[in-house]
Amino acid sequence: MTGRDHYYNKAKQEGYRSRAAYKLKQLDELENVIDRGDTVVDLGAAPGGWLQVAAERVGPDGTVIGVDLQRIDDLADHDNVETIRGDMTEERTRERVVDAADGTVDAVVSDMAPNMSGEYSLDQARSLHLARQAFETALELLDTGGDFVVKVFEGPDVDDFRADVEEEFQYVRATNPNASRDESSEVYFIGKGRLTAPVRPGDELEVEIEDVGNEGDGIASVDGYRLFVPATEEGDVVTVRVDDVKPNFGFAQPLERE
Ligand SMILES: C[S@@+](CC[C@H](N)C(=O)[O-])C[C@H]1O[C@@H](n2cnc3c(N)ncnc32)[C@H](O)[C@@H]1O
Repeated sequence: MTGRDHYYNKAKQEGYRSRAAYKLKQLDELENVIDRGDTVVDLGAAPGGWLQVAAERVGPDGTVIGVDLQRIDDLADHDNVETIRGDMTEERTRERVVDAADGTVDAVVSDMAPNMSGEYSLDQARSLHLARQAFETALELLDTGGDFVVKVFEGPDVDDFRADVEEEFQYVRATNPNASRDESSEVYFIGKGRLTAPVRPGDELEVEIEDVGNEGDGIASVDGYRLFVPATEEGDVVTVRVDDVKPNFGFAQPLERE
């Protein structure tokens, strides 16, 4: 039996609408993108396997919003799932998603895939276009520290796409879950920890040390974002190079003292 048949049968037995449900389970087990109480936006959600998994994982206090070109049948077992029928390449659909989320979103997950033409280069280009739409939506919706999962078909320009995602998240992991192995051309990127910090690794800037942390590092504030700078004291004005950026704070090394 192929992996495809295995997960198809398992989905039938366990009441999931698609074998894709197991991909989201495996992605979440790998990098923990969905927590209880979260608000999750699922792009390309029909028929609803990922919605079922996301609804189970966020629990009754969480919310899941699913979007697809296709109609998604109501999920009778979950009253915390809202669905939107629309095209994510259209601005008005994105606006509807923003309205439905009504505030902060903890995770944006996209399993969007184009209708297959059979011509790989065309399908791949369309897949990358959908992945970029998902990325734009994630940047618009995600709160600091939020996570992003996106499917894309391997091919030209995927490395550039990954580099763009890396700019906006603490780190990116690429994976092909077991439940997806038969579709070997697809890869999922998991962007962990949305960065909204005003600095990025490698940036050089002058800062004033305003405080000293418990570990003895100086603390500077850049537009309210805390940067820890070793070997400095309160009142120092130093030029630093940023070497590590986390969602809520970062680290920088002093380059010269004034
Ligand atoms: C692989 S299926 C998703 C399966 C789903 N994750 C599940 O577990 O049931 C890909 C979906 O992407 C949707 N899709 C493709 N282009 C889209 C677009 N521009 N806007 C919204 N959905 C789109 C398709 O209609 C299709 O239902």
